Amino acid sequence: MCETKDRAHVHVHTYNIHFHQDLMTLPNSLAKRKSARTMEVTNVSEYQAIAKEKLPKMVYDYYASGAEDQWTLEENRNAFTRILFRPRILIDVSKIDMTTTIMGFKLSMPIMIAPTAMQKMAHPDGEYATARAASAAGTIMTLSSWATSSVEEVASTGPGIRFFQLYVYKDRNVVAQLVRRAERAGFKAIALTVDTPRLGRREADIKNRFTLPPFLTLKNFEGLDLGKMDEANDSGLASYVAGQIDRTLSWKDVKWLQTITTMPILVKGVITAEDTRLAIQAGAAGIIVSNHGARQLDYVPATIMALEEVVKAAQGRVPVFLDGGVRRGTDVFKALALGASGIFIGRPVVFSLAAEGEAGVRNVLKMLREEFELTMALSGCTSLKEITRDHIVTPWDAPKARPAPRL
Ligand code: GLV
Repeated sequence: MCETKDRAHVHVHTYNIHFHQDLMTLPNSLAKRKSARTMEVTNVSEYQAIAKEKLPKMVYDYYASGAEDQWTLEENRNAFTRILFRPRILIDVSKIDMTTTIMGFKLSMPIMIAPTAMQKMAHPDGEYATARAASAAGTIMTLSSWATSSVEEVASTGPGIRFFQLYVYKDRNVVAQLVRRAERAGFKAIALTVDTPRLGRREADIKNRFTLPPFLTLKNFEGLDLGKMDEANDSGLASYVAGQIDRTLSWKDVKWLQTITTMPILVKGVITAEDTRLAIQAGAAGIIVSNHGARQLDYVPATIMALEEVVKAAQGRVPVFLDGGVRRGTDVFKALALGASGIFIGRPVVFSLAAEGEAGVRNVLKMLREEFELTMALSGCTSLKEITRDHIVTPWDAPKARPAPRL
């Protein structure tokens, strides 16, 4: 399935001299020339340091940052560490089945790829590499509206199950055209981002005057004259969002979207029971519990903390997914134990892409898969349906009644 070498030896060097030179010309960038170095990657998180070393500061900071104090950014990770296992023993775990069916599509595992913008800043192969890695791993890639490759280009990389993340622009003709193009290109669902009427305050982007490098475009919008990002005395992306994205977006637009496409709509960015019920009423086919990688409103809870509230409100009517902070197979298991049908990973994709292109993304998917399989085995679960709420204990669980102490 996955052709990634058994032990990933990442060659940290100039992976594409022209691309690297382009990056060196970026204003404010601190593009770095690093000598060749080989290191063994044994877990997903290690790719972040490699990416930091390889990428220009402006690019790395854009991917890595959260909003304001970055409390939620840390909490997305920390919250997982407060959930512990209640493993079951002496169960035959010689065969483990991680397959699942998501939105009607058979996947090799419940680990999917979240939308992350502008992947060609990370590596010249950008979204093509991610699409190929996802399809080799038998899972779904979600393409960002703000990709540096178009829906048609990504479709041309070969077969694969792909979702399209949608930002709703003020100009609804732009949205309608883009949705139609995604549908024609074979995308299977829309992940509608609902937490971004304005861009969150990412202070590194403000300091770096973040803007899309001049040799790249937001490819889906190229023909619509919306593919470039002006430099601003601020974050160029924040200005772009302020100019183009529709702040009036409301539940009626979720209904409108269903009139222009037959693709199912996943509402991405729900973290409360109230909005879960509204999303289902508005016709959502699924919910993605997401805080946008902690890049929008700071001091919202970690997604793993919000998940159970959403799952309970959904009452099994639609599947619930989660993104945010997943770095280990144990995290995947915890999300499923709390009722998620699957999870999405974002930053690990861009960091591994920066480190070693398609091979990096393949390796991330492989490591998470193997860790998840091991977690299932050590918890006594042989299929996803055997993962239950009783396999974990959370800080919000009532203390279990204990036998009275013997006097
Ligand atoms: C894009 O969605 C971003 O968070 O920058």
